[in-house]
Amino acid sequence: MQNLLKVAMPKGRINQPAVRLLQQAGFSIPDDLEESRKLVIVAPEAGMEFIMAKPVDVATYVEYGAADIGIVGKDVLMEENRDVYELLDLNIAKCRMSVIGLPDWQPSTNPRVATKYPNVASQYFRERGQQVEVIKLNGSIELAPLIGLADRIVDMVETGRTLKENGLVEMETMFDVTSRLIANRVSYRMKNERIQDVCDRLQSVIAGQ
Ligand code: PRP
Repeated sequence: MQNLLKVAMPKGRINQPAVRLLQQAGFSIPDDLEESRKLVIVAPEAGMEFIMAKPVDVATYVEYGAADIGIVGKDVLMEENRDVYELLDLNIAKCRMSVIGLPDWQPSTNPRVATKYPNVASQYFRERGQQVEVIKLNGSIELAPLIGLADRIVDMVETGRTLKENGLVEMETMFDVTSRLIANRVSYRMKNERIQDVCDRLQSVIAGQ
């Protein structure tokens, strides 16, 4: 039985660019990883086993060694603070983390900030000496200022379309976000040659772009 490299792959918007990048690096993997409902997909020619995970859980699978490596957004790494090696900036799924609000927003005392990223948001405002109440939501964050749940939100902006269609504006860009290759610390030692090969091949694709 072949010793497969276990790869935690994010479902959703990062999936396609991540698959493409691995294919460009010469790994023979199917285009349609996400099409079936299978959650563990073996790609024997690539010597890989893909674990199809929620993006926010990718670093958790890798930290605990359920996956050897993973592909995950910097947003998740900043929020989750998992004990993993960050090996490479894959330069895909580019977006930014921003403070967002209605255009007529007025500062108030102890404003409420809604977000999927409570740790990132709390740290950002704390470092600026601004006292805010952070409210954790799990999606459709843009609703919060529209219906009076929060004064501002901290969320990801990719094309800006969601903001535009909801009449919201970006008030501050906090940091740029791209996807990263991460590795479990033990796997990185035990399967170093395999993991370094993946890393080197991906790096040469990125360098050539
Ligand atoms: C993300 C993010 C924004 C949107 C930004 O949400 O939270 O809502 O995408 O993309 P845009 O600038 O291209 O419009 P996602 O689609 O992941 O869903 P969610 O609202 O459930 O978090």
